[in-house]
Amino acid sequence: MRNIRDFEPRRALVSPSLLAADFSRLGESVKAAAEAGATWLHWDVMDGHFVPNISFGIPVLAALRPCSDLFFDTHLMISHPARYAEPFIRAGADLITFHIESEDDPAATIETIHRAGAAAGLSLKPGTPASAVAPYLDRIELVLVMTVEPGFGGQRFMADQLPKIAELRRQIDASGRAVRLEVDGGIDARTAPSVRAAGADTLVAGTAVFRAPEGMAAAIRGLLS
Ligand code: DX5
Ligand code: ZN
Repeated sequence: MRNIRDFEPRRALVSPSLLAADFSRLGESVKAAAEAGATWLHWDVMDGHFVPNISFGIPVLAALRPCSDLFFDTHLMISHPARYAEPFIRAGADLITFHIESEDDPAATIETIHRAGAAAGLSLKPGTPASAVAPYLDRIELVLVMTVEPGFGGQRFMADQLPKIAELRRQIDASGRAVRLEVDGGIDARTAPSVRAAGADTLVAGTAVFRAPEGMAAAIRGLLS
């Protein structure tokens, strides 16, 4: 198990989203991400119910865990995260981020994740206000702001989410806790500077990394420059 505290607070990092990788060569893609300088790997888990798409689950993550030392940043876009958090953690997930809009109680789900030994994160769809996170800010390790409607990679970045990122940056700084602020959806060399200026320190990127014409290493450097 890798610990989120191993990563310096506020120091920006990129979490490549495996959803954009070549599914016929997942093992090689994970290795290539590490060789390109990534320290995190973003897993988009979709159940075809919370979002209108189905991606991958526990057996795939378990199969790739022995192949990689990357920090497995697991984004659950599922209706019942409390039911599946522990099996994902046993399979090798280091962080479980679930949606505050899901059907399970957030406080109980966070407790389940911590009891199983992983870090917990809360994600907000574009229509959910920053204030929804406030009751849980004292017990989570990460907040994820969706900058697209969850469900698919390759979508256009929603600039109207920038004020929410800035508001969450203010809330986190006021709390005095080392909570990471992650953004996800349409992040590339054009949009990365604006989310970083708003206060994000963890950038999820699928298309911009796994399908970068300039290569993954240059793409990751470009997002952090
Ligand atoms: C969308 C996912 C994202 C997506 C990002 O629901 O949560 O992680 O895969 O892909 P890009 O970077 O291509 O928008
Ligand atoms: Zn995601």
